[in-house]
Amino acid sequence: MRVHNFTGGPAALPEAVLQRAASELLDFRGIGASVMEISHRSAEFSRIVEESEATLRRLMRIPDDYAVLFPQGGATGQFAAIVLNLVKSEAGEVPCYVDTGYWASRAVKEAKRYGDAVIVASSKAQNYRQIPDPSTWHVPDNAAFLHVTLNETIGGVEYQSDPPTDVTLVADASSNILSRPIDVSRYGVIYAGAQKNLGPSGIAITIVRKSLLGRGDRPIPTILDYTTLEQGRSMANTPPVFAWYIAGLVFDWVESEGGVEVMAKRNDRKAQRLYAFLDQSGFYQNKVANAFRSRMNVPFILQDESRTQAFLAAARDAGFIGLEGHRSVGGVRASLYNAIREASVEALVNFLDEFASSAP
Ligand SMILES: Cc1ncc(COP(=O)(O)O)c(C=O)c1O
Repeated sequence: MRVHNFTGGPAALPEAVLQRAASELLDFRGIGASVMEISHRSAEFSRIVEESEATLRRLMRIPDDYAVLFPQGGATGQFAAIVLNLVKSEAGEVPCYVDTGYWASRAVKEAKRYGDAVIVASSKAQNYRQIPDPSTWHVPDNAAFLHVTLNETIGGVEYQSDPPTDVTLVADASSNILSRPIDVSRYGVIYAGAQKNLGPSGIAITIVRKSLLGRGDRPIPTILDYTTLEQGRSMANTPPVFAWYIAGLVFDWVESEGGVEVMAKRNDRKAQRLYAFLDQSGFYQNKVANAFRSRMNVPFILQDESRTQAFLAAARDAGFIGLEGHRSVGGVRASLYNAIREASVEALVNFLDEFASSAP
């Protein structure tokens, strides 16, 4: 039996994708071996490479002057890659960041391994329950880029539209890529770890404006070097073939469901249903300022926090998994990625209601 899976990631995959993968597991498209057991340079795998990129380009309307890379090392690898690929350190350039929470801070921390990194605005003083007003971002003249975390997976705050800036914009879209349209042309780089909305962990997606390739002036590990990846079809070494294959199936699924616009409408409905219930309940509480609430990750607490463990245990018994808040914050979190069906959100709301009503 499949449960309702609200985990933050690695997250639920569309059932149709899992079924297709299962049907092709032993004999991938008539070759008598699985996709994990053939060369990444074979004609069969090359088709996956070409088709996955082409489908992603259609889904996100990626302009031709952007390269699409499939690097290893997750989003954390990209925290380092953006600095090494984009910063001209000898010219005194610095990477700049908007600090919106846990993941933005992790990106800053990684950047600081290589030199200075500037935080142009932070919502730390507001407990990361909002996004700093762009009119207060003071980006220095020597900025190589401005980095934003489009959705804070743990804090549950999300940019509701593409942020305004004249500087090269770099975005971590790990937890909201393909959940709504993004105007790619507004960004220098968009990257995402796969394991929320794109597929299994082990692979990432990096979309980079080609004019930025070769900008960095320091040695870059080969597997993180955008130019090498661009020239070698993201195969600086043996890629995570299974993760790549599944990501391709997920892209096909999104397209067959009607694309990113359809995902966005569904995601809006799912999030609105859950927030509306939480707000009127009096039993549960989401503390994020309304204008910045994430449609992908909904963290909340029980007003009586001593009941959290009992709640999570009852949820598991009732067929809901992955509702534990991130280990750094505790509480509860429901992640509503593309693969989460509206019926699952409805079932969750009913469960939340029942649990609240049965409380002593
Ligand atoms: C917004 C965001 N950025 C970065 C990461 C780190 O991703 P990875 O584990 O792929 O390095 C995560 C993981 O949860 C995330 O949610």
